[in-house]
Amino acid sequence: MSSRQRLFRWLYRLGFTPWDGHPLAHSLTGLVEGGGLRPGAALDLGCGTGDNAAYLAGHGWRVTGVDYVAKPLKKARAKAAGLPVLFIKADVTQLSTSGIGAGYDLIID
Ligand SMILES: C[S@@+](CC[C@H](N)C(=O)[O-])C[C@H]1O[C@@H](n2cnc3c(N)ncnc32)[C@H](O)[C@@H]1O
Repeated sequence: MSSRQRLFRWLYRLGFTPWDGHPLAHSLTGLVEGGGLRPGAALDLGCGTGDNAAYLAGHGWRVTGVDYVAKPLKKARAKAAGLPVLFIKADVTQLSTSGIGAGYDLIID
């Protein structure tokens, strides 16, 4: 495990996750709701607790969310229950061996 992964694991364990609970980025909502993109398959890299993934799934996208910390993925799965999202625990720098496949129409980070 890398030191960075260890750090994120500790931050989630401590509950120090200042990136959580913000409004979604306008760059994402504008893209999704602006009418220029048809929903397809989306990949959310470093998905955390899944706000972006759940948002995309709620707008018709089939989403795969990837994060290498288990704790936020548990929250993400609860948040996106009933929506077409698959959450996978993997390192996004090793995607070719993570089994997530290819053919994504939208990749967010
Ligand atoms: C700053 S948080 C952002 C979380 C989420 N995207 C959001 O906007 O709320 C970064 C997330 O990326 C994950 N992450 C960082 N590097 C990663 C890597 N190499 N592979 C998988 N996840 C990673 C961390 O565990 C953390 O959940």
